[in-house]
Formats: sequence, C-alpha cells, structure tokens
Amino acid sequence: TRARISIDREFTVSEVPHRLFGSFVEHMGRCVYTGIYEPGHPEADGQGFRRDVLALTKELGATVVRYPGGNFVSGYNWEDGIGPVADRPRRLDGAWHTVESNAFGLHEFVDWSRKAGTEIMEAVNLGTRGVDAAREIVEYANHPGGTRWSDLRAKNGHKDPFNIKLWCLGNEMDGPWQIGHKTAHEYGRLAQEAAKAMRLVDPGIELVACGSSNSGMPTFGDWEHTVLTHTYEEVDYLSLHAYYQEQDGDAASFLASAVDMDHFIESVVATADAVRAKGRHKKHINLSFDEWNVWYSRPGDPDSPEQVTTRPWQEHPRVIEDRYNVTDAVVVGTLLNSLLRHGDRVKIANQAQLVNVIAPILAEPNGPAWRQTIFHPFARMAELAKGQVMRTVVDSDKVETARFGDTDLVDASITWNEETGRMALFLANRGLDEAAEVEVRLGGFDAGELTRAEVLDVPTGLDRFAKNTLELPNQVGLRPLTGVTAAGGQLTLTLPALSWAV
Ligand code: AHR
Repeated sequence: TRARISIDREFTVSEVPHRLFGSFVEHMGRCVYTGIYEPGHPEADGQGFRRDVLALTKELGATVVRYPGGNFVSGYNWEDGIGPVADRPRRLDGAWHTVESNAFGLHEFVDWSRKAGTEIMEAVNLGTRGVDAAREIVEYANHPGGTRWSDLRAKNGHKDPFNIKLWCLGNEMDGPWQIGHKTAHEYGRLAQEAAKAMRLVDPGIELVACGSSNSGMPTFGDWEHTVLTHTYEEVDYLSLHAYYQEQDGDAASFLASAVDMDHFIESVVATADAVRAKGRHKKHINLSFDEWNVWYSRPGDPDSPEQVTTRPWQEHPRVIEDRYNVTDAVVVGTLLNSLLRHGDRVKIANQAQLVNVIAPILAEPNGPAWRQTIFHPFARMAELAKGQVMRTVVDSDKVETARFGDTDLVDASITWNEETGRMALFLANRGLDEAAEVEVRLGGFDAGELTRAEVLDVPTGLDRFAKNTLELPNQVGLRPLTGVTAAGGQLTLTLPALSWAV
C-alpha cells in the first residue's frame, strides 16, 4: 500500500478546539458507582473518589466531561443529588432499570472535576421536566448568592459559584426510548424557552441543543432543521451522536467508520447553514459531537440494555462493559482524525463514556483499573494535537468497503503548533494485511528533527482481536515506530498492517 499526504503551511482549518478531547460520565452501569466513585476502595480518597481512575483520567487527557446523562438525565431530578447524603432519596431510574442511591450528585461531580482538572458540561432534564428546573439549576450552580437556590448551594458547602459554562438542553429527545420523548416542534419550542430562561439567570453560559440521536434516525435532517428553526438565536451548538461496530465480520467497513463520521458532520453543518441562510442569521451554529465511540450492540449479552430491563432492580449493575481490541483502537484513532479535521465546526466532542461503560478505562470493584486499547490513540492525540489543524490532502491506495464505498487505506490528521514549532501527525493504516509506505510533504516547512514516533498494532503472536484484560492489562499499547525519516520538509515512514501511529 502507498499513500502520499500533503499539507501546506498556509492552509489551516482552525485552532485545535480544546474541548474536542471530552469524555462523558453518566449515572449508568458502573460509570459513577465503582467507576469514578467507590468509597471503601483501597484507592479511594477522602471523598470516595478512586485515585487510580483519577490518575488515568488525567493521563487520558480528557478536557471536558459531560454529566449526568445520557438517557439517565431525562428522568433525573437534579435536586435529589444535593444536600446531606443521608437525606437524599433512593429512586428508580427507568432509563437503565437501576436503583439510584443519589450518593453522588452535583457537588460531588464538581469536586471530582476539579480533582480531574476537567471542565463540566452539565445536561438538564427536558424529558420529564422543563423550563423551571432548568433555570433553577443554573441559579444554584452559577449565581453568586442572596437567592434561594444560590444560598442553598452555599449551605450545602460551596459558597463560591460553580460557574458551569457549558449546558446541554436535554438528551436524544428524538429517540422513542427517551423518557419524555418529543417531536421536533415540541422539543424545539421547549429548548428555546429553557435556553432563554437559563440565559436570563446567567447570560455567560453556552448551550447545546439536541440533534438527532444518530444519522440513521428516520427524522434525521428534518429534526435538525426544525429544532434549529426554533432555537437558532438561543443556542450555540447542535449535538451529534454516533456509535460504530464491526458487523458480520465486515472489518473493512468497520475500519471505514470515519468516512461515515465525516459525512455525518458535513450533513449537519449543511443543515445548520441552511437554517442560517433562510433565517438571515449572522452567527454560525457549531457542532457538539457529545457522544461517540465504538459500541457493540449484542442484545443477548447479560449486560446489554435489553437484558438489564429483565433483571431485578439493583444498584449500579454492569451495563455494556465493552472490551476493546486492536481493530477498535484503530477505528477510534480514525474517528478522532475525523473530529480534528472538522475542527472549524466541531468545537466539542465527548467520547462515551469515561470508565466501565463503553469506556477507555476499566475499573473493577475493589480491584484495579487499567487502560483499554482505545485509551492510547485518545491519550496521545489529547496530549499532542496542539495549535492549528492543518488541511490534509491524502492520496492513498484504496479498499472497497460494502457500507462506505472506496475508502483510503491510510487516514490522517495533522496539527502544527507555531509556538513550539512542533508538528503532530496522526496516521492509521486500515489495511488488514499489508504495510503502508507513507510519504508526507510538509509544504512551507523545513521539518528537520523527529522527536517521537509510536505505533499501536497487533502484538507479535496475537491477532487483531487482542485486548487488554485484568490479567494482561498492558498487552496492547504503543511501541516505538522505527524507520521514520524527516528531512527537508518531507517525512517517510512505514505503517504496519492494521495500525495507528503518531
Ligand atoms: O452512552 C450510552 C447511551 O447512549 C446514552 O445514555 C444515550 O444518550 C445514548 O443512546
């Protein structure tokens, strides 16, 4: 396989959006309880936060974390999670058929976020609740004091406001599975009024309206158009969600998932801009890809959403604890490439979720925490994608895929940090059997020194399904990539078959 990649110093896409490396913590399965929070665990700090998971969250480099859902938020009363823990109600969470103890709530999440060094992206319930609860949580979180809700925050231990900037107006409201599911008109009007009321409390907040739950929804396109027609002036972002999986052994199509993501993003940008044109609006609506990942839907699995509803009500059951392999890591790397390449319009992205539930981090109750395969491309990109996203032209040999047509075997994104003079290249070889010879032309640059080159590929003696397990937590990871040459604005390298490299 051969590929030639070209960039030019003059052709940039945008600044690397800081919030592109976001994650997601939902009250779902074991993401909160026995994930980030497990009092009594040997690694728990004084507040019950797992230090091992906090350390891995920092290493992952997550910049912003969405909370508390997800489907969970559409039936959630945020007031249940404040005040003395002993007084908090135990409730049934219909979204995941779970008993919610409310031992962990808003204050705990704020404290956890400070320890993790992450920004908060807070979702409000527009399923069973509405304008009033939405404006009240903003008053509770962000108003300095002297009012009912802000004084209650102080009484509950936080005198200073939380100053939460980023808010989601509900979650997946087009989904029939959503508690309080709505039509586009119903949701559009509600989101518009909630946004207005929330901004009257704090004009400095940024708001995300719900787009379609995925691009396969029958209402996709119409939903975006109608919702934005109502909310255009009141919101800043529109959300996108996408989960990918290998189906029927079709690895080629699975590895081309980023082609679908590119197309999805460009379709939503087109729709948002059409509403802008028709409404004679001045500003642009940007995108918040606030749920994305690989997620294997296996309805028969005991921890699948389908089976969870058939089990007795219980606290934090195991739900969709997917174990990721080498192929999944390569796909995750290409999905991050797609997000980065669209950094001019995708300003926020959250991998779903952070720990245990379809997550880069696994943590056993009363046991260790470790990195899944998909942890590695995320962590490296969060660490190294700095400065400008470069417009990247790829001329690659192709593979024919059943679901997404002819697809480049080599996928790439490139960033350039003018201040440090460092460039970062994120490359994937989708070919299952062949190495790829790659030539990169760095127009206008005099690339001289190679500081680092690493690759994630199939470990010797294993296959593309290799994973990291409790027993072998470091089986799949990054190793040095040798044979990379950089001279006179040109780079040459060989990507092993099925690999992701930086
Ligand atoms: O991330 C898991 C679930 O996927 C979320 O709760 C929901 O928003 C989506 O359907």
